[in-house]
Amino acid sequence: MNQDLLTLQPDKPPIITSEIEVIRFYHDTDAKAAVQEMIVGTYVLVEEFYSNGLEILAELKRTLLVYYTDKKFQGQRDFRSAFREASHRLLVEVKGHKLVVKKAPVIGWLKVLYPEIADFYVSFPEVQGMNSAWQWYQKGIEVKTLGITLHPFYGTYFPTRFEHLTLFDRWLKKYIGSKEKAIEIGVGSGILSFQLIQNGFKTIFASDTNKNAIIGVAQECKRLDYEANITLNHGDLFENCDVKADVIVFNPPWLLAKHSLEEGLDKAIYYEKELFPQFFEQAQKHLTCHGKIVLLFSNLAQVIDAKSPHPIIEELRTNGRFKKELHLRRDVNASSKKTKRTDSRENEKVELWVLTPKEMV
Ligand SMILES: C[S@@+](CC[C@H](N)C(=O)[O-])C[C@H]1O[C@@H](n2cnc3c(N)ncnc32)[C@H](O)[C@@H]1O
Repeated sequence: MNQDLLTLQPDKPPIITSEIEVIRFYHDTDAKAAVQEMIVGTYVLVEEFYSNGLEILAELKRTLLVYYTDKKFQGQRDFRSAFREASHRLLVEVKGHKLVVKKAPVIGWLKVLYPEIADFYVSFPEVQGMNSAWQWYQKGIEVKTLGITLHPFYGTYFPTRFEHLTLFDRWLKKYIGSKEKAIEIGVGSGILSFQLIQNGFKTIFASDTNKNAIIGVAQECKRLDYEANITLNHGDLFENCDVKADVIVFNPPWLLAKHSLEEGLDKAIYYEKELFPQFFEQAQKHLTCHGKIVLLFSNLAQVIDAKSPHPIIEELRTNGRFKKELHLRRDVNASSKKTKRTDSRENEKVELWVLTPKEMV
């Protein structure tokens, strides 16, 4: 396991540790007036009950919707950005790593992420995010067909549908090549690397640009006793990687970004147009001559907009570096068996691509 991991600090929500001027919001405070204050730049502190925070956020939403009536993409984006800015001025107080307000959830991240600061203020929406992430972390995500339960670290992507994991599992069960070395790009909460180990791969180099993913997978490897099998690296694509692998696996972000990307979860969903050309160029150098690249992808971008590019098809069509060995597709089920999909995503398919190097002539 990489030594650098000991010094890696997780990304976490910003906190305020100094005394600040706030308007205190109690159950009988005028919510409309407090919302106006938040919009013009004043901090509002939630007092008494956690639910008072929910009430004021609902009022903020109602207020902003009066101004942001455009239902088109840009209008909705402007609304979200105004909501985000004002809502982050709603604060909650933390004392001894616990929320001070009554009937508040217990959130372990308040201690895990800020071990040396017990008392501070943090924004209410960040607390909601931490609460949800803590529930997932504690309860775990059970991938029944694989017999694995994941405990994703704060701020890390984790799968909520499993069709692509089933496709990968099926491919792994049939794979008969060397299992000495694998590389996973974009390890997230670790699931694909764990599948590789379960299927007999001896050593894996796994990387991610998200620090929290690397910290989380390091903890998971300890829990699952996989530490000897994985070298973790916080970095871009194959940065710091000096191995050639029998298999390189990547479940990349599936949508081309139309905005500039933030670190963290944004990069699990959206990609910049350089990502795939860079990935393929570097992958070529890190693959043994009989090696295979396995990509898990989706037609989601084409379902949203038929003219969207498909970066794997583009690579095969334009660069002559790899040939297609296999392309499997599978329907994406509704999250619940009882709900029939009627949304625009009913044509969504997950894809597994296997590419091999073209022989040099
Ligand atoms: C869709 S998630 C997949 C996570 C996990 N492998 C899975 O299958 O559940 C994509 C992951 O790739 C990471 N990522 C995005 N761009 C990257 C890059 N240039 N280098 C390394 N990792 C990257 C993201 O941070 C994210 O964890």
